[in-house]
Amino acid sequence: MSHSFKDILVHTEDGVMTVTLNRVDKKNSITFLMYGAMADALESANHDAAVRAVVIQGHESIFSAGNDIGDFLNQPPATQDSPVFRFLRGISSFPKPLVAAVCGPAVGIGTTLLLHCDLVYAGDNAAFSMPFVNLGLCPEAASSFLVPQLMGHRRAAEALLLGEPFSAETALEIGLINRIVAPLQANALARRQALKLVAKPLTSLLETKRLMKKHNAGMVAERMAEEGASFGRMLQEPAAREAFTAFMAKRKPDFSRL
Ligand code: COA
Repeated sequence: MSHSFKDILVHTEDGVMTVTLNRVDKKNSITFLMYGAMADALESANHDAAVRAVVIQGHESIFSAGNDIGDFLNQPPATQDSPVFRFLRGISSFPKPLVAAVCGPAVGIGTTLLLHCDLVYAGDNAAFSMPFVNLGLCPEAASSFLVPQLMGHRRAAEALLLGEPFSAETALEIGLINRIVAPLQANALARRQALKLVAKPLTSLLETKRLMKKHNAGMVAERMAEEGASFGRMLQEPAAREAFTAFMAKRKPDFSRL
């Protein structure tokens, strides 16, 4: 069964399912329909014996501008069953190898989803950012747990409290990505690495990944649920409403009274 639609392309070949963010005119910002398609694709990849690895990729100029801000304003995720939370639970507990190729901006969930991938290859134009505070929100995808664990509290504070972007070089140094290549090579490299995984015994891959993630798994699930509850509440609060309205109106937000 195919989960493709124009904004999310899903293609399975030679044991690799490739999920491509394909809404480039809107900087691959992710709508609830796109989250739904990605969650369905991961679920199907999990159960389909023909899929032994998954690649998530964008365009050589943009990975993702994060959640669609119009959706945040008009149809925010209301329950833990909403597509974004279904996608996050799916990617964080996905048992088979996950490979990502990232070029250009990776904003918000565009960066935090990478915390759940096993191998990440980046174009030298990649720029990572988690500006949740600038939007009146809080971290998601267990990033409030995983980012400090990855880079230490001080660097995490620059990324999560100041919302400062960081480069591919920094991402390589802290271990968020595996390698930096020319943007046009990133998707091809991710596929080559996925094909290497496909040739290995799946039983060994599954058990190795499970053991590698076992220490964090409970904490990730717990933190993701706590973040999700706060995030859902904060989406409705004045700071976030001001940030979203300002973005849509292409003006600077005014948080002076919030
Ligand atoms: N949600 C909805 N639409 C978005 C979007 C988002 N997250 N990000 C970009 N777009 C839209 C813009 O509104 C614009 O639409 P228009 O052509 O109809 O005006 C189009 O995509 C191009 O975006 P633009 O900002 O002009 O591109 P840019 O190259 O100057 O900047 C980014 C690219 C990613 C730096 C910038 O778009 C951005 O900061 N986006 C918001 C990121 C964000 O805060 N995401 C939420 C994280 S939780």
